[in-house]
Amino acid sequence: MSSISTEFQTLFGHQPEVISEAPGRVNLIGEHIDYSEGFVLPFAIANRTHAAISRSSDGLVRISSHQRRNNIFSISITDVKPGSKGDWEKYVLGVIWSLGITEGLNILVDGNVPAGAGLSSSAALECAVAVALNTLLNLGLDDKELARASQKAENEYVGMPCGIMDQSVSIMGKAGSALLLDCRDLSSELIPFSVADAGLELLIIDTQAHHALVDGGYAERRAACESAASKLGVNSMRELTMEQLLAGKDKLSDVEFIRARHAVTEIARVLSTVEALKRGDFTEVGSLINQSHNSLRDDYAVSCPELDVAVDAALSAGALGSRMVGGGFGGSAIALLRVEDVDKAKTAISESFEKRSFKKPRFFTSLPSAGASASLTTKLQ
Ligand code: GLA
Repeated sequence: MSSISTEFQTLFGHQPEVISEAPGRVNLIGEHIDYSEGFVLPFAIANRTHAAISRSSDGLVRISSHQRRNNIFSISITDVKPGSKGDWEKYVLGVIWSLGITEGLNILVDGNVPAGAGLSSSAALECAVAVALNTLLNLGLDDKELARASQKAENEYVGMPCGIMDQSVSIMGKAGSALLLDCRDLSSELIPFSVADAGLELLIIDTQAHHALVDGGYAERRAACESAASKLGVNSMRELTMEQLLAGKDKLSDVEFIRARHAVTEIARVLSTVEALKRGDFTEVGSLINQSHNSLRDDYAVSCPELDVAVDAALSAGALGSRMVGGGFGGSAIALLRVEDVDKAKTAISESFEKRSFKKPRFFTSLPSAGASASLTTKLQ
């Protein structure tokens, strides 16, 4: 019996009916273009969130977590709608709401995706609950529908206007590959990402910085792309070419122009990265990763001193490429390094942080890992 089952039994007095797991993610390249219908290239990481769930006949939804196990949050299923009570529980409630569930549930979650590190702990939580309920209640939803339902939970219940990348890769990720995702229709292609075979490692650097700008700054970037698209007569940045953008420069504010320039160039960089990976050309992959960071820092303005220092220190220690990942304003950066340079890079980054009195960075690494899964526990009981 898994430990989440034992803990569930202690908490609720019976076995869970379903147990699921869903991973966090890093994004190799393709940042801030999912909501512009662009292409992205993330992969699922080994760190994941687990959920154990049973049905309850009393119409109550009870939620607890391993991290706060003495505390059971409780709400009537009829009160599960946007604006309800709840803190982190809203990610769980949002999924229950977006899937249209009408019965009571007992839910326990546990996980090791670091929160606030820009590695999508929220998508991991949403997707763990979504795949569990899909299996438990026989909803028959496919991967795309589950990703969209999880995104809807975050957009409309939690109130964060995120795109579709994190939930898609948490559900569709596969071990050994990055996921080339077309955010317009969620079609995807697995792109083998075998860094270890090339003597490389992808280091994940959690800067431990969390700047307050996150929510407003994200929504503002998204709004700038939408208003640039509407002024230029296209549906999204995906339809815009660099020629059209330059020709329409006068219709845009300076800020809209540089935000759009990031989107257009970043979409092209994702496709170039896929080509370079297919050729095994990691030098080119590194260079595209660097260009992505520069564009996020200068045109999109979503980096911060901690991320820039981490990237510069990684490059000075020999990284082939390094950049911030995720929404920005803090969180994590990645560095593509030769295995023999990894320790040097960690030292260089730690020393640079200490010199500036930043918080101590944390280091992870992860190979591309499997996406979400769920199984009924009847056989275990
Ligand atoms: C956050 C959002 C994603 C995506 C990234 C930036 O992680 O949840 O939808 O927009 O930022 O690429």
